[in-house]
Amino acid sequence: MQIQAIQQGISELEVDAAVVGIYEGGVLPEIAQQLDQATGGGLQALLEAKEIDGKLGDTTVWLSPNSVRTTHLLIVGLGPQEEFSPPSAFRVASIAAKKLAAKPRGRVAFCLDGSWSETIVESAVCGSLVGCVGQDLYRREKNLHPPEEVLWYTEETDALERGQVIADSVNLTRRLVNEPADVIYPQTFAETATQEAAESGFEIEVWDEDRLRDEKCGSLLGVARGSDRPARLLVMRHRGNDSKHPELALVGKGVTFDSGGLSLKPSEGMKAMKCDMAGAATVLGTMRGIARLKMPYHVLGVVGLVENMVSGNCYKLGDVLHARNGKTIEVLNTDAEGRLVLADALDVARDDKPQKMINLATLTGACVVALGTDVVGLMTNDQAWCDRIAETAASCGERAWQLPMFPEFSEQLRSKIADIKNIGAGRWAGAITAGKFLEEFVGDTTWTHMDIAGPAFQDKEKPEMDSGGSGVMVRTLMELVRSGC
Ligand code: BES
Ligand code: MN
Ligand code: ZN
Repeated sequence: MQIQAIQQGISELEVDAAVVGIYEGGVLPEIAQQLDQATGGGLQALLEAKEIDGKLGDTTVWLSPNSVRTTHLLIVGLGPQEEFSPPSAFRVASIAAKKLAAKPRGRVAFCLDGSWSETIVESAVCGSLVGCVGQDLYRREKNLHPPEEVLWYTEETDALERGQVIADSVNLTRRLVNEPADVIYPQTFAETATQEAAESGFEIEVWDEDRLRDEKCGSLLGVARGSDRPARLLVMRHRGNDSKHPELALVGKGVTFDSGGLSLKPSEGMKAMKCDMAGAATVLGTMRGIARLKMPYHVLGVVGLVENMVSGNCYKLGDVLHARNGKTIEVLNTDAEGRLVLADALDVARDDKPQKMINLATLTGACVVALGTDVVGLMTNDQAWCDRIAETAASCGERAWQLPMFPEFSEQLRSKIADIKNIGAGRWAGAITAGKFLEEFVGDTTWTHMDIAGPAFQDKEKPEMDSGGSGVMVRTLMELVRSGC
């Protein structure tokens, strides 16, 4: 898609559709004033008639207004001017872009507010390019049609480019999550990542089964055993400086399909389980973005890729797995597989002695019960690190909330035969016992676990985004790295 900055006035614009913004209370940005003048006070008349009021995200279509060449105008509310922020910019631009994408269009112009700061423009551009992309990968008749060309009324050309890089990274994550499990499995995920690494300029190492055995990744390999698709582990590296140890390590759960294994899921719980590699896709999307923006930090990305299946050779209840860090794990539920994959992936990341670590995983249904489908669960061994992540997420308009990690929860993981077992004592606090399990594999590294089971894959579409993969946390992680890791 072509994206370009423009400076010409509203009446000279030759586009198929244009978006014009107004603040709540009838405050008109300069470009909206131009539109009002060109139309002989048409915009003010709509305000007086209360047809439009500028509430955040409200949209009104205005067809063929007087003296303007654009036949399709979309008026979008920007909310109160004094409260306007990067998250509201993302929201209004994505809502408008999704509306316009209902039909194929050649050139679309966003004429929101020419006086916006770089950060706001970047966020808005990002929203406009995320909102118009849908999950309709295999529909002959698409639901959403990204425009061929997007024009932005702004002088912030660098912000325009950055916004596009961030959006493309979010959309990469979304696409990988949306692809069926027969298209994206450990090998094809690894191939996609290898290609992205070559195009975006980050390093990648692909560990195959032999390497995983040599590295004693018995926990990850235990899960992988039941599948005909061989496991992979990716070690990705963006070297934006020459520091020996990474400032940050990102670790992702990449279960390309989660049937539950012998603890088989019912159909209802299984039907969206192609999304169970969203953590890995988030790490890949972020690595791509920070490499493209040449961020001056050393960031490591590790993802464990397996398929959790049922077969004559699959791992069983009561099996004891030998994790890479030396701990033994009693498997009492084969559907608690994500933590087994992460156990070894976290240990691989620790080889490099990263200063800080974050892992991302669609880890537990319990986290969705606790926080719903729009909020990421945070669990940590370092309050300051978690606070910084939570603040960054808030600044991007992504919802995240912390759950407690009291030491008592670990008692539930005691096993009679092994060092730990892979499930808690009952069904209560399932998100936290999973977090406590992961904590066993991070040692003394500063760490936060993000359970993205709720937001990573949406059943229902939103005004600002199609249903399916959401790319949640790619923007937050990129912002976290940019602001110093
Ligand atoms: N992949 C699932 C968690 C999940 C649930 C992700 C809903 C996205 C939406 C995970 O592997 C799982 O099955 N967890 C079990 C853990 C339990 C067996 C302790 C769960 O949540 O039921
Ligand atoms: Mn599972
Ligand atoms: Zn899973």
